[in-house]
Amino acid sequence: MKDVMILTGAGQIGMAIARRMGYGMKIVVGDKKLENAQAIAKIMNDAGFDVVPMEMDLSSRESIMSLIAEAQKYGEISMLVNAAGVSPSQAPIEAILKVDLYGTAVLLEEVGKVIKEGGVGVTISSQSGWRMPALTAEEDELLATTPTEKLLKLPLLQPEKIRDTLHAYQMAKRCNEKRVMAEAVKWGKRGARINDIAPGIIVTPLAIDEFNGPRGDFYKNMFANCPAGRPGTADEVANVAELLMSDKGAFITGSTVLIDGGATSSYFYGPLKPQK
Ligand SMILES: NC(=O)c1ccc[n+]([C@@H]2O[C@H](COP(=O)([O-])OP(=O)(O)OC[C@H]3O[C@@H](n4cnc5c(N)ncnc54)[C@H](O)[C@@H]3O)[C@@H](O)[C@H]2O)c1
Repeated sequence: MKDVMILTGAGQIGMAIARRMGYGMKIVVGDKKLENAQAIAKIMNDAGFDVVPMEMDLSSRESIMSLIAEAQKYGEISMLVNAAGVSPSQAPIEAILKVDLYGTAVLLEEVGKVIKEGGVGVTISSQSGWRMPALTAEEDELLATTPTEKLLKLPLLQPEKIRDTLHAYQMAKRCNEKRVMAEAVKWGKRGARINDIAPGIIVTPLAIDEFNGPRGDFYKNMFANCPAGRPGTADEVANVAELLMSDKGAFITGSTVLIDGGATSSYFYGPLKPQK
């Protein structure tokens, strides 16, 4: 039996983190598109990793439970990397809330019940949530602690309250940050840690869909005018994951780390600040 890593989302960010942290482990990778999971399983198995691909849908509790059951066949789950998600240009409001908000909450909850003593997890939110104005303390608490099956019924997530797909994505990513805080308390009871990474623009198929979508010019301007002056790479996100998931991050849990080349700073206090 080996220690097992669950990876959801067979995209560039997920693969970069799995390559950084998953050596010597069994890696069970779930993706809605089986071909994506198979593709990274092939790349990684050819490079000496031990990866099993699986079709799974993050928006379904049943599918999440099947993924966990599959992973447990190989050993104890000691790492979770949640890098599955849909972006504002890829899906309608309902799907974004179901996958990015509800699915992430269920995954953190269910893996938190079985994570090995001393285990670690990361989930991927987004800088996008940081540009949305603050919610009230009550709204934040509702996003953090509402039972998963009631989350999508919260008044602040109803269609009349969500302006567009970008707003849905921002709410989902804000919810990820809050869920990670609440889950860190539960994971801590098992000596386990869970953190969140909020990336800026990272060149992946998802980001390329955004560059070619209705907000393409906005995104291209964003990386050109952020302090770093360029988009980031998935391997740079893996640098942060390595800190959070290794012993060097032993005192870090319930945290969200922003890695955006300074785009958020520029949005508030620099050339990316929206003109009134
Ligand atoms: N790339 C960026 O610029 C960027 C910035 C901020 C946040 N993120 C977040 O990073 C995460 C990973 O994105 P990426 O950029 O690596 O994208 P990617 O497109 O390379 O990978 C995302 C993967 O998630 C899978 N997926 C989508 N819906 C799913 C579902 N319901 N169940 C299971 N799998 C599903 C897709 O099939 C795809 O393989 C996402 O949560 C995204 O919101 C990305």
